[in-house]
Amino acid sequence: MAEVPSGQRMTYGGYLRLEELLQLQEGPEGYLPQPCNDEKHFIIVHQAFELWFKLIISELKCAHAILNSDKVEEKVMPKLVHHLERVTSIFSLMSQQWKVMETLAPQEFLAFRDRLGTSSGFESWQMRELEVLLGLEHETHGGMNPLTHMRKLAEEGKVSKSVLENFENVSSQPSIRESLEDWLSRTPINGSLSGDDNDSEVVSKFIDSHISAMKKHSEHVISHIVKIGHGVESQVRPRMEASITQAESFLRPEGVVNRSRAGLLFIESYRELPLLSWPRILIDSFVELEQSMLLFRNSHARMVERMIGRRMGTGGSSGVDYLDATLKYRIFVDLWAVRTILIKRDNLKDLSNPEYYGFNSNN
Ligand code: HEM
Repeated sequence: MAEVPSGQRMTYGGYLRLEELLQLQEGPEGYLPQPCNDEKHFIIVHQAFELWFKLIISELKCAHAILNSDKVEEKVMPKLVHHLERVTSIFSLMSQQWKVMETLAPQEFLAFRDRLGTSSGFESWQMRELEVLLGLEHETHGGMNPLTHMRKLAEEGKVSKSVLENFENVSSQPSIRESLEDWLSRTPINGSLSGDDNDSEVVSKFIDSHISAMKKHSEHVISHIVKIGHGVESQVRPRMEASITQAESFLRPEGVVNRSRAGLLFIESYRELPLLSWPRILIDSFVELEQSMLLFRNSHARMVERMIGRRMGTGGSSGVDYLDATLKYRIFVDLWAVRTILIKRDNLKDLSNPEYYGFNSNN
């Protein structure tokens, strides 16, 4: 920020560059006729969202700088979680902000909708950037590749060269999800660290013991369901067995142990252990963040349905159907998936070395 010239005091307007900021609500340069009050409302609401996106990106970059390291010390965990919590708060606030947009009646929107041409939230590069930073994999959800999409927008002159360069740069780096997976893969499992001599045996034993606890529990569930008359064994058993096969392929995809998922399962299973407090809080923060993002997407879709019904979007998508399909996206897929295979603590084996996970001091 420019120095305040000596003899002048800092002012509210100068600090916030308010005059410049408040001149940006009239639409593009030379836009005639000038936006009516409803259209100005439309512009201001969009700009407010884009400002929040800017802050989200900045918070995520700070969080990433901490997480994307070979060793994340416990003392930096509160700061990391703090950044994620702020992002969650912003998403939660933005979910409410659609209410302001909804004060625009469909007819009032139609009155100026044609002026938008083909411009659409589709072209919000900040939304795409935060998705890529977090690690959303569009391809696996049948959607478009965000980098290809952004290059196309740049070719069509819809985003600038510098926006594209920044996007290419962000896309070439590991995402937050990938850094989180690396961090999880370093979780000490039953006191064994990845890289220890017999680590693979310890981890395999932990997985075997979890699967066998699941099998035992499933036998119990089958006999209970049959006993109370809620199903017959020939129908219930295949379902229970399928969930065990699913757990096995989650933990050992194609027969190879996934240490990151095993670490995640360990943290979620023994979440009461003192040494696992921050890891557990971190995982919860990511789940909370993604949940708030989904609610934000959902409330946008509901507002859009109310505003334009089932018509096509200005960006050329199917509109509400497209937006509803984005509700299926999951970034932290493993954090959600692990929930399906958890079993209650009483049915888990006790740790052989609980002292490893205790507090460092008795004070
Ligand atoms: C009257 C208000 C609005 C309507 C009718 C509307 C409608 C739509 C539609 C139909 C789409 C799908 C793409 C397309 O074909 O255009 C879309 C996407 C999007 N809109 Fe809106 N929108 C509105 C307001 C907003 C506001 C205020 C924001 C805030 C920045 C916003 C952000 C987005 C984003 C980021 C996408 C891309 C979603 C994705 O691909 O995941 N929209 N919108």
